[in-house]
Order: sequence, then C-alpha cells, then structure tokens
Amino acid sequence: MLRRQLLLSLVLCFSRSLVAADNSSSLSYDVFQYVDPLIGSANGGNVFAGASLPYGMAKAVADTDSDSNQGGFTLDGSNITGFSTMHDSGTGGNPSLGNFALFPYTSCANDTVDGCVYPKKARKIPYVNGSVQASPGYFGLTLQSGIQVDMTTAQHTSLFRFQFPATRASSPLILMDLTDLSDSRQDNATITVDESTGRMTGSGRFLPSFGSGDYVLYFCADFKSTAKLRDNGIFVDSRASADVKHLKISRSINGYPLPGGAFVRFEAPPDDTILARVGVSFISSDQACSNAESEIPDFDFDATHSAAVSIWREKLSPIRVSREGVNSSLLTSFYSSIYRTMINPQDYTGENPLWQSSEPYFDSLYCIWDLFRSTLPFLTLVDPSTVTRIVRSLIDTQQHLGWLPDCRMSLCKGYTQGGSNADNVLADAFVKGLTDGIDWEAGYAAVQKDAEEEPYDWSNEGRGGLLSWKSLHYIPVQDFDYLGFGTMTRSISRTLEYSYNDFAISQIARGLNKTADAEKYEESSRYWQNLFKKDQTSYLNGTNTGFVGFFQPRYLNQTWGFQDPLTCSNIDTSGRACSLQNDGAETFESSIWEYQFFVPHDMATLVTLLGGPSQFVRRLDYLHDQGITYIGNEPAFLTVYQYHYAGRPGKSAQRVHFYIPSYFQPTPDGLPGNDDSGTMGAFVAMSMMGLFPNPGQNVYFITPPFFPHVEIRSPLTNRTATVRVKNFDPTYRSIYIQSATLDGRPYAKNWIDHSFFTEGKELVLTLGRNESSWGTRPEDLPPSLSTRGGANLEARWSEDMPSYAVGTHHVRDHLSYHARALRGKHFDIYT
Ligand SMILES: *[C@@H]1O[C@H](CO)[C@@H](O)[C@H](O)[C@H]1NC(C)=O
Ligand SMILES: *[C@@H]1O[C@H](CO)[C@@H](O)[C@H](O)[C@H]1NC(C)=O
Ligand SMILES: *[C@@H]1O[C@H](CO)[C@@H](O)[C@H](O)[C@H]1NC(C)=O
Ligand SMILES: *[C@@H]1O[C@H](CO)[C@@H](O)[C@H](O)[C@H]1NC(C)=O
Ligand SMILES: *[C@@H]1O[C@H](CO)[C@@H](O)[C@H](O)[C@H]1NC(C)=O
Ligand SMILES: *[C@@H]1O[C@H](CO)[C@@H](O)[C@H](O)[C@H]1NC(C)=O
Ligand SMILES: *[C@@H]1O[C@H](CO)[C@@H](O)[C@H](O)[C@H]1NC(C)=O
Ligand SMILES: *[C@@H]1O[C@H](CO)[C@@H](O)[C@H](O)[C@H]1NC(C)=O
Ligand SMILES: *[C@@H]1O[C@H](CO)[C@@H](O)[C@H](O)[C@H]1NC(C)=O
Ligand SMILES: *[C@@H]1O[C@H](CO)[C@@H](O)[C@H](O)[C@H]1NC(C)=O
Ligand SMILES: *[C@@H]1O[C@H](CO)[C@@H](O)[C@H](O)[C@H]1NC(C)=O
Repeated sequence: MLRRQLLLSLVLCFSRSLVAADNSSSLSYDVFQYVDPLIGSANGGNVFAGASLPYGMAKAVADTDSDSNQGGFTLDGSNITGFSTMHDSGTGGNPSLGNFALFPYTSCANDTVDGCVYPKKARKIPYVNGSVQASPGYFGLTLQSGIQVDMTTAQHTSLFRFQFPATRASSPLILMDLTDLSDSRQDNATITVDESTGRMTGSGRFLPSFGSGDYVLYFCADFKSTAKLRDNGIFVDSRASADVKHLKISRSINGYPLPGGAFVRFEAPPDDTILARVGVSFISSDQACSNAESEIPDFDFDATHSAAVSIWREKLSPIRVSREGVNSSLLTSFYSSIYRTMINPQDYTGENPLWQSSEPYFDSLYCIWDLFRSTLPFLTLVDPSTVTRIVRSLIDTQQHLGWLPDCRMSLCKGYTQGGSNADNVLADAFVKGLTDGIDWEAGYAAVQKDAEEEPYDWSNEGRGGLLSWKSLHYIPVQDFDYLGFGTMTRSISRTLEYSYNDFAISQIARGLNKTADAEKYEESSRYWQNLFKKDQTSYLNGTNTGFVGFFQPRYLNQTWGFQDPLTCSNIDTSGRACSLQNDGAETFESSIWEYQFFVPHDMATLVTLLGGPSQFVRRLDYLHDQGITYIGNEPAFLTVYQYHYAGRPGKSAQRVHFYIPSYFQPTPDGLPGNDDSGTMGAFVAMSMMGLFPNPGQNVYFITPPFFPHVEIRSPLTNRTATVRVKNFDPTYRSIYIQSATLDGRPYAKNWIDHSFFTEGKELVLTLGRNESSWGTRPEDLPPSLSTRGGANLEARWSEDMPSYAVGTHHVRDHLSYHARALRGKHFDIYT
C-alpha cells in the first residue's frame, strides 16, 4: 500500500493536500491479478514467459520448437523440447541461450534406458492446451505424456518440479541435454554424473544470438525425490548406458551438434514427484553448485516461489493507478508491461569471467539501440538504483573492454545497429541526477571515446566513418574508411544517430563544466542537417505526396545519391527488412520517411526545415495515417509524441489512443513486434501514465493518462508524484488537456522534467473533448538545441523551473532560447 508523504503535503498548498488525501485506499489492490507473463509469447513477441526474478540470471521455462522461440516458450501449440534455465526476453536475432535442457519420461520402453527417446528433434511432445500457467516467479504446464512440470527461480538457480501421472511413472527418467535453443554448441561440451547422488556437472561453449565470439556456461543439477535413485549415466544420439558416467562431446561436422547428455532414473516415487535444481554459472561448475546450494538449499518450492513473489511485489510497488471506470484489460496491459521491463537486462554481478572488478556487471543489454528509448528511462523512474548499477556496469565494461557496448548478450559483444547509443543512456542517467557510485569522469571519457576514436571493428562497438564525420560532417554513402571495419550501410540513420549521440555527450560535458567540449559536441550534433536535401520529393504509388525536402544519401564528393524515402518503410512492397545483412540500405530497419523525425534534440530546427508547424504536423500525420511507420519497431515510439514540438499536444494524445490498445492487446499474440527487453512494455507503460520521455533529455511529454489517477513513488526519495485527471472519460473521447496545474499553480508547458518524480509533485489535468490552447504557445514547448537565447524570458522561466540535478542547468537555457526564437513567428498550429 502506498502512503502519501505527510511532509510533502504540508509544504504544498492546503487545498492540494486535501485533494491528495482522498482515494488513496482505492490504489491499494494486488497488482498480480493484472500481470500476465504470457503476453507477447506468440506471434513474434518473443517474450520470456517463464519464471525469473527481476533482472535474474536464472530464467526457467519450457522451450518449444517454434520458429520464434527466441524467448524459449511460445503459446502457439508448438512442441516442447525441454526445460531450461537461461533465456533472454523479446529479442530478435537467433534464439538466445536455452542451455542444458531437462526432459522427463514416465518410464522407458521395455524398462531399458535405450527405450527412452533422447534426441531433441525426436523426443519433443505437445503440451496440454489450457494447462499453461504463468505469474511472476512461476511457470507451469502439463506435457501430453501427463507429466506436470512447474518451476520457480532464485538469482542463479532454477527449481523444476516434475509431477508424474500416478499410474504410469513406474521408473521415471530425466535427462539433461548439452544443447541450447539455436543448436550453437561448439567443441567439447562435458557432463559428469555422480553415481551415488545423481548430481550432474559440466559445461558447454555456445554462440551468442546476435553478436561475435562465444561463451562458456557451467551447470550443476541435483535431483531430489522420495523415490530411490535407480541408476544414472550418459546418452549419445539415441543410445544410453548406466555404465558410463562422463561424456565429452564434440560438435558434429554438419553443424547440428550431436545429441548428448546424461540421465538419472528413479524408482516409482510414492508422491509421484521429482525435483530438479539447476544452478548455472559463467565461472565454474563449482560456482554453479555453490550458487544452487546457497540459493535453494532445501529444494523448497513454495519458499523459493514466495521469495520471488515478495521481490516482484516490491519491484512493482512504485506505480499505482486508480481503477475507477477503467477496462480491466487496460490494467492488465499496463501492469504486465511494467513487469516485462524487469526481465532483461540481466544482473550477472559475480558471474563475469572476463575481468576482475568490484563493480556490478549487467548483461543482456539487448540492444541498447532499443533500450535507450523506453526501458531504461522507465526504470529510471521506478528502479533508479538498478539503472545506476547498469550505468556503472556500462562504464566498467568500457574500462575493461575498451568500448561501451551498443548491444551485449551472453558475455559477448552484440552488433551495433547505428549509433553508439550507450551515450544516450549515460546522458539520460546524468541529466536525471543518478550519481550513487557512478564515476562520471570515467563515464564522460567513455562517451567521448565513442565520438573521437574509431574502433577497428565498429560492427561491434563505437562508430564507423569518423574520418568522414570529422572532415565532411556526415557519413557518406560508399564511404572510404580504412581505419575500421563494419557494414558499410545506414549512412543516413548513422548520421542522424551520431548527431544525437553527440548531443548526449554535450549534455554530460556541460554538466561537468567542460564548456569547450560541450560546445564542440553541440556543434557536431547539428551535422544531421548536412544530409537534408531541400528539393527531394517523395512518391507513393506513383503519386507525388506533395512533401518536399527529405534526407538523402550523400557521396564522399558531396554530390547526392538517392534512396526512395519510402524504401525500408512498413509499406515498402519490396519486402526488404533493411537490417544488417544482405538487404542493407542507407537507413536501418526503417525508411527516410520515419528517420526524418529523428532529431530529438533539435526539433525546433527540424520543424522549421520541414516547412513550419502546420506542414510538420501534416507530415507526421501522413507518416502514421499511411502506415509508413510501424509501432512494432522502436524508432516509431518518439514519432507518436513529436506533435508536442509543433504545439499540438492534443494530436500526440490522439496518436497514443490510435495505437493503444489496438496494437497492444493483453493477449499472447497481442504485441505488434518483438518486445526487445521490455521496450514495447515501457512504451505502453509510460504512454498510459501520460508521461513519455524524450530519451536522453530531461523531458517528459504530457498527455492524459488512461486512468483517473496515477501515483509514482520515487524509490530514491520516497516522494510520490501524482497525476490526477479531472473530467476523466473512460471512453477516451475526452483526451484533450484544457488546463493543468502543477502543485496547485497553473501549468501551461506541455512537458515536465524529472524533478516531478523525485520531488513528488502533483499534476492535475482537466480534460475536454476538443483540442484547446493549452500547451500550444512557443514558450510551452519542450526545449530544443538550436533556439538558444532569450535573456528576458530567462527570469520568468527560472522562477518556474524546478531545481535541476547536476549537469542540467543548460536545459533551462534551451527552454528560453527556444521560446525567444519562435516568438513573433507565424505559428499556425491549427491548419
Ligand atoms: C473515491 O472512490 C470512490 C469509490 O471507490 C468514488 O465513488 C469516489 O468518487 C472517489 N472520489 C474521488 C474524489 O475520486
Ligand atoms: C492447442 O492450441 C493451438 C493453438 O494455440 C492449436 O494450434 C492446437 O491445435 C491445439 N491443440 C489441441 C490438441 O487442441
Ligand atoms: C509435435 O510433434 C509431433 C511428433 O512428436 C508431431 O507429430 C506434431 O506434428 C508436432 N506438432 C507441431 C505443432 O509441430
Ligand atoms: C521392446 O521390446 C520389444 C520385444 O522385445 C521389441 O520388439 C521392441 O523393439 C522394444 N522396443 C524398444 C523401444 O526397445
Ligand atoms: C576437444 O577435445 C579434443 C580431444 O580431446 C582435443 O583434441 C581438442 O583440442 C579439444 N578442443 C578444444 C577446443 O578444447
Ligand atoms: C475491454 O477491452 C477489451 C479489449 O480491448 C474489449 O474486448 C472489451 O469489450 C472492453 N470491455 C468494455 C466493457 O469496454
Ligand atoms: C560546475 O560549475 C558550477 C559553477 O561554477 C559549480 O557550481 C558546479 O559545482 C560545477 N560542477 C562540477 C561538476 O564541477
Ligand atoms: C498504395 O498501393 C497499395 C497497394 O496497391 C494500397 O494498398 C494503398 O492503399 C495505396 N496507398 C495510397 C496512399 O494510395
Ligand atoms: C561523385 O561520386 C559519385 C559516386 O562515386 C559518382 O557517381 C559521381 O559521378 C561523382 N560526382 C562528381 C561530380 O564527381
Ligand atoms: C524509503 O522508505 C523505505 C521504506 O519505508 C526506507 O527503507 C528507505 O530508507 C526510505 N528511503 C529514503 C530515501 O527515505
Ligand atoms: C468541439 O468542437 C466541435 C466542432 O469544432 C464543436 O461543434 C463542439 O461544440 C465543440 N465542443 C465543445 C465541448 O466545445
């Protein structure tokens, strides 16, 4: 239950504390009823649906043989191949992890160990439809063989409970397979089974699912039953023997690893139950065993489960919304989305074999190109201490491997998709005042290196084309780059992303009083303008769209190349995915049409360049209305809110409701795309709260929440921020803010900064059915880089402005700069 801060109420105006004291009891309900981990477990959501702690390394679930089993389980009627402990959530790329699967049999044919079917492709069986159950810290289903399997986890250990059908379990056998989801096992995996206890230990070397190199994972499996252990041994292919206790198995020559592993066989258990505890470690089998022994000492399923439940309750506690009039399917969407933001990244602290450090180590940052946009800014609100530890881990990784990652999984470097987007993550944390234990000088050195030094292998880290970037001030198509190597595509999206990365760096520099650096990187953050071709047109189905001026590729000799602005868009009929392989283009996974809006730091200049606010709004409408953008991929997120920069916050609200709930249903197949470590979830959660970030900046766009009342407690300060809606309309026809107050005083800006959360302020929004003039004036808009100046406005803004965290005073300047530059301009917001 949330309690309002008495102290806070006292310092605020009296009427507010009266209002604030009301319905807090209506917020005290159990959110678990609204958390459904199966959302996104079908139709390419690739969500991990199993049992995990928040950021846990052990993630237990049933694995299927579906084509989109990236997260292990898929609720699509596919066959179950096993039950494994390591997973990722929502990722693209190949299926991740899924190592060392267990598989149970009630008995083997003819009561001989050769009578069980060992290879993964042959042993797989369906699960019973309707038997699947999932909740935070728990997953279970029943196999067609009648075996009910449920599971829970601690940080590095899974506990599986196999319950056999009473009549058939004459001599149950459980195998452990030296495999993973994508059959990536490399040379010489080993497994040893202890004759007297049945303990299995060993390791295997596997490939990461979207990166370079390989990783070794160790395991330690113990079994517990009321029955006597009958025998144990190893299997290879389809043959097994109780006489052999150790197996070292190579990779096969045709790429598909030879099936191999170990088994334990029991007498018939009086209670029909066998428990399997699987510890994992990246350090050693010994550490896997000691993790398991310390985390789940007594094989106590209920105790392990309830410990997981308590941790989840605490993690989900900072946000509560009132439910009056709200469709419960929206509540399920909301809280399940929040839940999914805490599956990945994974906390591997103490499990990093690559270097010695006392800093935290996080992995499954998969990928930061996605994470920076929503998951991490959201976690900064509800779990800032974890984001602080993630930032420390990023900096520590840079110090030991030389570079900040852009993607990281399974101890390996993932592929860069565009910019060096950890720069944005560090800037976001910096401007929001995260400090605890973060060495910001080291953080600054890390982001500055991204901007200054080209890595030899920039497909894994950093940026490519820096010679051209520094001399030509853009990334050319068909660049001549002999300093480093990477995929020579995406020249437009890389130019846009590098520009934003430099703005991110400039903010940290400003906050650290590195003024010359700040100015330098602000300057290079303008380089995106160099790819804007003022006379470029765009045709759709052979008809001129009428919009003139688009980004275009540019050669080394500064002449223009050409890419149709709709290429790689959602309506590009060529079917190109425009990803890293084969079908690369000058924009990554999306079109020039969509990337034209990616100037998050200088929207004022962009709006001007695209013909002023009304033309800008027409373009943004066209992007959404023609289906050029697709909300199932992350670059679309910000375009939902960019109407705010044209003085049309009401249109952002319309767009939010256009996409939610239609594209985000609380069903297994309800996500529009793969969740990418909770990014879709964070998009939904923050959109429904009515406060969406411009990630990397101290800016949240205000739109009406989907609930009459939202409370967000800052775990750092224990203060509770409140958004309260007057004239709340559960049919969402009244979604236009008519007026607002902040802590009782009129508030006309269409955005708010992070102090809203840390200082526990109260925003009251009065809604109506039509757009109003609220948030539409030049001085109401979020800050932009280009429009600096405005000394006479400074005083007024300073008065209103909250105190910023270290490093953000310049944002205040940007505000007033923006306001002055727009003053006096024709500002035709309603055309
Ligand atoms: C408080 O909640 C009750 C029902 O739970 C509702 O009838 C009442 O209108 C609410 N009051 C306010 C001010 O929202
Ligand atoms: C189980 O459900 C899936 C769809 O989720 C369906 O394809 C399959 O046919 C069902 N199986 C049975 C046995 O009903
Ligand atoms: C599941 O595997 C069985 C063989 O065990 C096969 O007959 C069946 O077609 C498979 N089902 C699916 C959905 O792949
Ligand atoms: C079981 O035994 C029967 C009779 O000896 C034999 O035909 C059959 O192949 C055996 N099945 C297996 C799976 O070993
Ligand atoms: C795998 O084992 C074989 C046989 O012992 C050995 O020759 C080879 O070097 C090993 N490979 C690796 C990568 O350890
Ligand atoms: C609640 O939302 C669901 C899913 O969008 C919808 O099917 C249902 O009709 C809604 N219920 C009400 C009462 O509006
Ligand atoms: C930067 O300079 C200002 C003004 O001199 C000072 O208040 C602030 O503490 C300095 N910040 C850092 C990080 O040195
Ligand atoms: C373009 O053509 C496609 C396919 O024929 C059609 O579905 C779409 O509606 C057309 N769009 C416009 C704006 O004409
Ligand atoms: C510039 O370079 C492009 C690509 O190499 C080439 O096609 C074009 O002819 C060049 N233009 C000039 C004016 O040199
Ligand atoms: C916040 O409240 C919790 C629980 O009441 C307490 O443990 C913690 O110390 C408080 N933190 C701050 C910053 O006051
Ligand atoms: C909203 O706008 C419509 C059309 O512009 C107008 O007819 C209607 O009266 C307005 N409603 C309110 C509540 O102002």
